[in-house]
Amino acid sequence: MDRMDGLCVTDCTRCPALVESRTQIVDGVGPADAALLFVGEGPGANEDEQGEPFVGRSGTVLDDALRDAGLAREDVRITNCVRCRPPENRDPTSEELANCRGYLDAEIDAVDPAVIVTLGKVPSEHLLDRDVAVTGEAGELFDVPIAGETRRVLVCVHPAATLYDRSQAETFESAVRRAADFADGGGQSSLGDF
Ligand code: URA
Repeated sequence: MDRMDGLCVTDCTRCPALVESRTQIVDGVGPADAALLFVGEGPGANEDEQGEPFVGRSGTVLDDALRDAGLAREDVRITNCVRCRPPENRDPTSEELANCRGYLDAEIDAVDPAVIVTLGKVPSEHLLDRDVAVTGEAGELFDVPIAGETRRVLVCVHPAATLYDRSQAETFESAVRRAADFADGGGQSSLGDF
């Protein structure tokens, strides 16, 4: 990918509406060889401002669930389907998702994670390439062809769903616990950090 330097997109103007609405491109964060790759939808206002995925309230929910599963945020890689904030936090269009797909595929290819965790409907449907009933399928693992490789994808509800509907919290947390079982050290690698 000519517009990527390692795992970072250096410049991109493929989506005119997103170029207009973004402050900066928000690349993935975390180890370049992480066992777990969490994929969200796209940056929100906080992420756009700080240049890092999942740093707002959703990020706190994710960090807490990771900690409860014995992992630190720094142990996993976190990225999004699109790297630029959509206006008014609307969902990315299918064209925007397609425009950004090469960057996501390149990141998946380079990181080569044991499991990809899709956070919410948009990334789940984008990577599984079908309709997904996220609440019903959360915690389930699927073998999915992605850019020429078979990847293991674990469906998860979006952390923000737990803020609007407390009944989603256990669904979210148990999917994160299941993902942690695939992390190096069985999800116990960073307990000492707490
Ligand atoms: N929601 C997402 O899907 N991604 C982020 O980075 C933040 C919130």
